[in-house]
Amino acid sequence: MCGIVGYLGERDAVPVLMQGLKQLEYRGYDSSGIGIVHRKKVKVIKEKGKLAMLEKQLTDNLTAKIGIAHTRWATHGGVTQENAHPHTGPKEEVIVVHNGIIDNYAGLKEKLIAEGNVFKSETDSEVVAHLVEKYLDLGPEQAVSKAISMINGTYGLLFLFRDHPDLIIAARNGSPLVIGIGKDEMFLASDAMAFAGYTQHAVFVDDGEMVILNPKGYRIINSQNLEIDRDVEQLEVASENHTKEGYPHYLLKEIHEQPESVFRAMGRGGRLLPDFGSALLAGLNLEKRDFFDIKKIHIIAMGTAYYAGELGKFIIEDLARIPVEVSDASEMCGMNPIVDKDTLFVAVSQSGETRDTIAAIQEIQQKGGRVVGLVNTVGSTLARMTDGGVYIHAGSEISVASTKAFSNQVTVLILMALMIGRSRDISLSRGRELVAELKALPGKIQDILDRGSELRNMAEKLKDYQSILYLGRGINYPVALEAALKMKEVSYIHAEAYSAGSLKHGPLALISEEMPSVFICTSGDYQEKTISNIQEVKARGGKVFVISNYKDSNLENLADEIFIVPGSDEAISPLLTIVPCQLLGYYTALALGRDIDQPRNLAKSVTVE
Ligand code: F6R
Repeated sequence: MCGIVGYLGERDAVPVLMQGLKQLEYRGYDSSGIGIVHRKKVKVIKEKGKLAMLEKQLTDNLTAKIGIAHTRWATHGGVTQENAHPHTGPKEEVIVVHNGIIDNYAGLKEKLIAEGNVFKSETDSEVVAHLVEKYLDLGPEQAVSKAISMINGTYGLLFLFRDHPDLIIAARNGSPLVIGIGKDEMFLASDAMAFAGYTQHAVFVDDGEMVILNPKGYRIINSQNLEIDRDVEQLEVASENHTKEGYPHYLLKEIHEQPESVFRAMGRGGRLLPDFGSALLAGLNLEKRDFFDIKKIHIIAMGTAYYAGELGKFIIEDLARIPVEVSDASEMCGMNPIVDKDTLFVAVSQSGETRDTIAAIQEIQQKGGRVVGLVNTVGSTLARMTDGGVYIHAGSEISVASTKAFSNQVTVLILMALMIGRSRDISLSRGRELVAELKALPGKIQDILDRGSELRNMAEKLKDYQSILYLGRGINYPVALEAALKMKEVSYIHAEAYSAGSLKHGPLALISEEMPSVFICTSGDYQEKTISNIQEVKARGGKVFVISNYKDSNLENLADEIFIVPGSDEAISPLLTIVPCQLLGYYTALALGRDIDQPRNLAKSVTVE
């Protein structure tokens, strides 16, 4: 993953780079570093730990007009100062920062060591600095070109040269890279947010391209060595001064933003068509006639977005009567996916930069498949590569654990189901009921948030367990999956989800006083069978926590703890039952003193496969 940023111009480079790194910290926060060239001298400052650790090392005499910087999520080599970027060649003539993975680094490193090179780190990236330095006699441009012709893998690379104090060279393959064009100053970064405070003029670099940057301009060269002329885009990206607005953590803030954010997913009402009992997602570029031609929908995503996709399957199949397949993008990449003209592929992603999802979509597009995106980040790689799509409008999500983006993904999938469903299957009255339910959703979420203290008490009772099971049937099963993911990623308690029906096929052996279960049990088709599963757990001494949308004496007698969310149409219910689960994860992590917004080992945007 990692975030990279480069600057070249009249300003002091270090503060500009630090500001860029702060915007990119979501891409990794194991360690960070800055490299500058000043008076033909190379200086590299890097530190293990959060960005604040690097900031402490920066002294006022670090003046330079050119620099590159990096925030790391470790892939090759542990989290140490030596492994932090930038890396230099043996003679410190070349400095590099790298986002991605060099697959063939081991063989290259072996050869370089045999030639006498000494390596300072265990990273794959250092090999690239050595290679460029090896060929530097050819000139910087040719040296980079030669080095990248020898490496396989994914990369966003930025190079500085000791003897060329007004030159940055960059290369991209599979990791995002964008040029920012200011007045007599230039930027390069993995995300335009890194320089959005300085310029809104940007050029996106494509795979296989190299960029040669100096203060007056830039050249882009493709893999055939041809110069590319690409339009400058006017961005609407705000460099964000994120604040917690009084909340102790971004996670809690973002959970509390959901009434407003789901309303934004509905286009503040503009995506709803109350008179027709339908919805409109114009960005999908689908005509009504297209709805008849779609024989299958295939959702591709990872993690939380994948679970949103699993909910989308229930809702779309129910409302639109179209079969839906949901694929874990990372599994799909190595396969030979079946692509046909009657299938609509839907990529779901908060960041729009998830490498696994991008790679799966590239393969589908290679086979001629039609792909639309449900993406949060405006201008992201996925948003730009799909044939159409809608933004989910969750706003920026800073906490690594996704909450409001999940709710907005599910909301947009409901809108999609309604839009397609109204043309194919569901009646006007059912459509109108659903529109009314969607309009009532923000208020219902607010009701749950107002009762956060009940979930804080529940978390106190869960926090000392080693493991927790999450169980649900039907539409509640993906809710259980997402709820378990939230618990494990922020509290580090092992939490596992099963369909409640599969309990007796194995997991029941785990039940004891030491293994509590959280059941998602809502009224409707699955209610009675889920109650039977709760009874099976109780009979074996397991503690039962229930998230439900109805209350009766039977459920109350069975549950050790119960939290009731407002009632709703079944299709809408996940957007309510997930909220107490998010709060349960948050308060459990809080009680355990975890690093809630930046859990260990994770990063917000997973840009490596
Ligand atoms: C978990 C979480 C991750 C992401 C996954 C996909 O809280 O955030 O599981 O959902 O890495 O990321 P996006 O949605 O950016 O493609």
